[in-house]
Amino acid sequence: MKGLAAAALAAGLLASSSAAIQLTERELPNVVGLDITRRAVENPVKRDALRRRQSKTVTETLTNEVTLYYANVSIGTPAQELSLHIDTGSSDLWVNVASSEICTFRGDPCSSAGTYNANSSSTYKYVNSDFNVSYADGSGAAGDYATDAVSIGGQSITDLQFGIGYDSTTPQGILGIGYTADEAQVNTARLKSYANLPQAMANAGLIRSNAYSLWLNDLDASTGSILFGGVDTAKYTGQLQTIPIQKAFDQYAEFIITLTGMDLVNNGNNQSMTTDLPTAVVLDSGSSLAYLPNDLTSAIYSAFEVEYDQSQGAGVCSCSLADENITLDFTFTSPTISIPINELVINPNAGSTTNDPSGTGDRENPNNQNSGQNGGNGGSLCIFGIAPAEGSTAVLGDTFLRSAYVVYDLANNEISLAQTDFNATDSNVSEIGTGTASVPDATPVSSAVQAAVSETGGARIGPVSGTGGSPFATGTSTSGVVPKQVSYGGLALAAGVAAAFTCTWTV
Ligand SMILES: *[C@@H]1O[C@H](CO)[C@@H](O)[C@H](O)[C@H]1NC(C)=O
Ligand SMILES: *[C@@H]1O[C@H](CO)[C@@H](O)[C@H](O)[C@H]1NC(C)=O
Ligand SMILES: *[C@@H]1O[C@H](CO)[C@@H](O)[C@H](O)[C@H]1NC(C)=O
Ligand SMILES: *[C@@H]1O[C@H](CO)[C@@H](O)[C@H](O)[C@H]1NC(C)=O
Ligand SMILES: *[C@@H]1O[C@H](CO)[C@@H](O)[C@H](O)[C@H]1NC(C)=O
Ligand SMILES: *[C@@H]1O[C@H](CO)[C@@H](O)[C@H](O)[C@H]1NC(C)=O
Ligand SMILES: *[C@@H]1O[C@H](CO)[C@@H](O)[C@H](O)[C@H]1NC(C)=O
Repeated sequence: MKGLAAAALAAGLLASSSAAIQLTERELPNVVGLDITRRAVENPVKRDALRRRQSKTVTETLTNEVTLYYANVSIGTPAQELSLHIDTGSSDLWVNVASSEICTFRGDPCSSAGTYNANSSSTYKYVNSDFNVSYADGSGAAGDYATDAVSIGGQSITDLQFGIGYDSTTPQGILGIGYTADEAQVNTARLKSYANLPQAMANAGLIRSNAYSLWLNDLDASTGSILFGGVDTAKYTGQLQTIPIQKAFDQYAEFIITLTGMDLVNNGNNQSMTTDLPTAVVLDSGSSLAYLPNDLTSAIYSAFEVEYDQSQGAGVCSCSLADENITLDFTFTSPTISIPINELVINPNAGSTTNDPSGTGDRENPNNQNSGQNGGNGGSLCIFGIAPAEGSTAVLGDTFLRSAYVVYDLANNEISLAQTDFNATDSNVSEIGTGTASVPDATPVSSAVQAAVSETGGARIGPVSGTGGSPFATGTSTSGVVPKQVSYGGLALAAGVAAAFTCTWTV
């Protein structure tokens, strides 16, 4: 699921990183792995925003713009190369055509992602004209469903169904890898589902069952990997623990699990959050930020002295927060994923060509590594990686997912989680077999807590009034430094909040 905001894409990484993908051929016959490349997004809040304002519908989840992680796929005979965004929050693979209006805009916006030409492929077959995903404002992608030969990670599938966006408002195609129940033709045309990419890989015997692992890696790293049909035990620490995926609308359509606990650990001081917990959450690689229930978010903001910016719908903090020895620990009945605070502090300027000529999306200026109270990052502003859900489904996007190694087992309707090993270079791939408990190195969690999932497909909290109803204080009015005592984890933090959220952070 991704938001629509064409302007949000930082152009800086477009050129440099599109060539950075490496296909990895595994020795094991029933595993398909490939590297995925991260692209910086200039304003992830704006990028996620449209989706969040709308009621939960499937069309919105498919009308997407930019996400952070993409993979190379080739379609047709001869092969046409495309770079597609990987999205666990949607279920169709779709591509642009060169003649669509958006692709003819100045600057050739579709060139980095690539486009598909049906007439140039001898293996193209028309399916129907029911491919249509759209936003409430009329933007979106629509056109035909077709089948063609598709190659990914060195493996090929003949006659894979996908969408062709003859009419599209987004310059980059999507590789949706969610449940087939969430496909556009199921939701908008009420047709039966088709085997989408992971299901088709399983059907073709490329992998033993419909399951894959996603390793997004560090915010400061530019590549992660996706492994269809396997687990790479060298990419996480500890063991995988398995919890059930929960149904919505009486069916499995999204990766919903239950968050049961959250702890803020500051230099060993542990503060447990209980507000709004347990709560059902959607795991969505297509969302940049995490969106948690309002009161829980409010408590986190107080603890970290994050200021809520109502116009952006997100929290803003000093970039120097990233230098603190703090983790935010998310527990799901048993497995706990610990998120280092620097993974939650996003520099909106990172990834621009000016600030990051290396194109790696480095968050911090290397010169600022040892920033003190008034130096280094202390003066710059960052976006905090958790925003209020405002009554909508809670979502754990990339700010959470980077810290976790996640196995999406669609065949068994289970998620296995372990703490990621950032920048791990070793690899030890095991196949995911068939039948129950088929994920290697994973132990089931007994009596996993399952919070109620609302009819709209996710956890709901109380309604939020449209304007001025946010429980969050805005930080726009303060001028000069207003010292503030914040009680946190048994410590008193002195924090200064200045105009435009410039704050220094001392412990
Ligand atoms: C990935 O796609 C881009 C854009 O088409 C291309 O330049 C690059 O060579 C591809 N990489 C691989 C490994 O195929
Ligand atoms: C293929 O080309 C023909 C004529 O050249 C055109 O009418 C048709 O729309 C094209 N089909 C597709 C799928 O692009
Ligand atoms: C797609 O669906 C939307 C909303 O249902 C509709 O307004 C639009 O005309 C459709 N587009 C096409 C090309 O069929
Ligand atoms: C991972 O690698 C990146 C880029 O080399 C580096 O900036 C970052 O600090 C590393 N992360 C960890 C946790 O070592
Ligand atoms: C960070 O806090 C942990 C306790 O949670 C402590 O063991 C560690 O020494 C601290 N690291 C630094 C650099 O202060
Ligand atoms: C923090 O406290 C909670 C609740 O007492 C506990 O479950 C958790 O393990 C603690 N975390 C750390 C890192 O000490
Ligand atoms: C690789 O994974 C297998 C299966 O999980 C395990 O038995 C083996 O010890 C691992 N090897 C290394 C070098 O970690």
